Amino acid sequence: MKLWQGQRVPALLMAFLSCGIAAAQGDSPVQLRRFIDEQVGGISKLRVPDNDADLPQPKLPGGSVDPKFQNTEAKRYLGKMLFFDPVRTARILPEFGGLPGVRQTASCGSCHMGEAAGKAGTLLNFAVGGEGRGYTDESGNFIARRRPRAELPKLRALPLFPGDALVDELPTLTDVYEQAVGSPARGRKLPSPGQLLRTGRLDALDSVGRNSPSVIGAAFNNRLLLGGFAGEPDSAPGGLNPFDFTAVESVALLLLDAHRMLDFQSAELQRLPTYRKLFRDAFPEEAAQADAAGDLNMLINDVTVLRATATFLRSAVTRNTPWDRFLSGENGAMTERQRRGAKLFFTAANQGGAGCYSCHSGPMLNKQVNDPDVAGAGKFVEENFHNLGLGDHPLQALNIAARKDANFRDDGRREITGLDSDAFKFRTLTLRQLKDGKFFFHNGSFTNVRDVVNYFNRGIPQDAGAAGAGTLSARFTNPRGSGMPAGLGLSEAQVDELTDFLENALYDPALVQYDPYSSTRTLEPNEQDLMYSKYRPDLAALGARDGRMPSGLPRSNDDALSRRDMGLEFLDVTNVVTVTPVESNRVGAGRQEDVYRITNNTAAPVDTHLLLIVRGVGDQVQLENGSGRTGSREPYQRLFLPDGVLMPGQSITTRLLFRQQPQLPSLSYGLTVLSGQGTP
Ligand code: HEC
Ligand code: HEC
Repeated sequence: MKLWQGQRVPALLMAFLSCGIAAAQGDSPVQLRRFIDEQVGGISKLRVPDNDADLPQPKLPGGSVDPKFQNTEAKRYLGKMLFFDPVRTARILPEFGGLPGVRQTASCGSCHMGEAAGKAGTLLNFAVGGEGRGYTDESGNFIARRRPRAELPKLRALPLFPGDALVDELPTLTDVYEQAVGSPARGRKLPSPGQLLRTGRLDALDSVGRNSPSVIGAAFNNRLLLGGFAGEPDSAPGGLNPFDFTAVESVALLLLDAHRMLDFQSAELQRLPTYRKLFRDAFPEEAAQADAAGDLNMLINDVTVLRATATFLRSAVTRNTPWDRFLSGENGAMTERQRRGAKLFFTAANQGGAGCYSCHSGPMLNKQVNDPDVAGAGKFVEENFHNLGLGDHPLQALNIAARKDANFRDDGRREITGLDSDAFKFRTLTLRQLKDGKFFFHNGSFTNVRDVVNYFNRGIPQDAGAAGAGTLSARFTNPRGSGMPAGLGLSEAQVDELTDFLENALYDPALVQYDPYSSTRTLEPNEQDLMYSKYRPDLAALGARDGRMPSGLPRSNDDALSRRDMGLEFLDVTNVVTVTPVESNRVGAGRQEDVYRITNNTAAPVDTHLLLIVRGVGDQVQLENGSGRTGSREPYQRLFLPDGVLMPGQSITTRLLFRQQPQLPSLSYGLTVLSGQGTP
């Protein structure tokens, strides 16, 4: 008895103590899960289906999945290959200003990169007409780049951007449409694709006047694109949806047009045995029909392309973030600070929280909590569009020039519905993977997550025009209620907690780095996708080359700078840069230190990494600060260029530290300088 009581006291004390600790440290994982469950009416509403088959898909009227659009692995794989294969950007028309040299140089992947959260990673997102993919800096960070090609003369005159000039007048997708048929608000008729294409405005360069959003989580939205163009019924003033597609199919169709593929891609794909096989695998019914009719067009066409693309887009999700693991019951998955951030996220602003969940819910945190996924969304559609007082993307200045309308603004949802009450409303975006994002909001005006959180915390609109449109969201300016000060009133520490939750708890490394054990797949084609000799011998037998897309082209982009960025080739710049010896010192014990200045004396930039290859020394000479040896056993040093480029007139200095065994009187060698990021 005594013993029993003796044990009981400390147990009570423990319970009391842990309660006190919980109050000081925030909720326990179990308490937090219960709290979130109550806030959203069931934690299952936040969980990502484990299997692609259970992701939202278009349904037949009876409620079963429409077999035409059903997710299958064969469609997903084909869709992924199509997304990243530059072979499709074949609609370059010189008669409309297209430069033949940019044909088949870009893909969907040019503007939606795995390493950049499914966004472009650059503010001005370029596809055809752009060069480069990205470079890795000395600390191993990937920095996306895609710059306009030097030979786009008409772009150089623009006052907007100094230096390398930019962009033809390619505005938003709806502008393309308007250009073809007149203002959609004024009795529109359906344009034929030809009309859309032959506006002449699509051909010099592919860039869109909005920040490219993440493709992650598109499956969960009933409208896509920032104004909700995709998935909008055809009958809407700005609708263009003749087949009454749901959002993902709709976007996949619209973008074929916007990105220089429609009408021209099929012929390119039909030529390739690898794609013929992939289409057969994905569309057996159509394959049988095509065989019976002897007409390949029945198998490989814009519609089968869009169906495969839509399956790939729908399956672009992350499943293994600390947040997902926390939701599924793993108590230690999020740090205590991230849990505090999550608590703020799911607590209403008038209860001392940040109230983010009221707009960012669902498995991808990109919509209202009870918003149904695909069709029949009805009353929730408009609830996903908000005016947060943001200014225009810088490229919209080109729209002003093209339209000769100084007052032109990108006013988001209004462009689609034609309603003034929708002016400046934009669609709520996913919050997954943001740590790798480089630009945020439709205008790209923020460059890190903490600044976005601060923007919500202050509740002060950045743009007078958007703020004065009469549609500004009170949930942004006065989330704590009228009569309360603007914004959320979070402390700096709370802003940090919320940022930690967003950046780290919602981040899944397996989206970027291939992890065969993760249920999250890389967005970019990975080893399993592209090592045909090992994983797809059937494609290898048809000529697919390991590491390349099924067309044989490099992934995403096929221009010289991109190929160097991806380590596929090198440029010998020995005669482009000037290598000047600065000093040479014996530093004892057979060691010699040679210092060089490397200057770019030409008018063009030198890009990526510089590889200094030491020629004519044998194996007995070591380059102590080298990066390895080339295939022909020559030591080399990798030089990381600041900003991934050595501009005309710019110099960098490096030292080569040699050691030779046995000690020899003097060392003579030649230097070759290569530009490129791979291993020479
Ligand atoms: C030139 C850069 C560029 C290229 C190439 C590009 N996109 Fe995009 N993408 C964007 C931009 C910018 C937007 C936002 C446009 C808007 O809201 O009007 C967007 C929007 C999207 C969205 C909607 C995301 C959302 O949350 O609403 C999807 C899905 C998408 N793109 C898929 C694709 C596919 C598929 C392709 C290839 C056919 C493609 N993109 C090619 C830049 C690009
Ligand atoms: C009133 C609805 C609403 C609330 C509340 C809200 N958001 Fe958003 N959020 C949006 C909309 C709409 C966008 C896209 C706006 C745009 O680009 O024009 C967005 C965009 C974002 C983005 C940028 C994503 C990207 O890829 O560019 C982040 C980050 C973000 N929100 C975080 C938060 C956080 C954190 C909170 C809580 C403090 C919050 N949001 C509260 C509606 C909301």
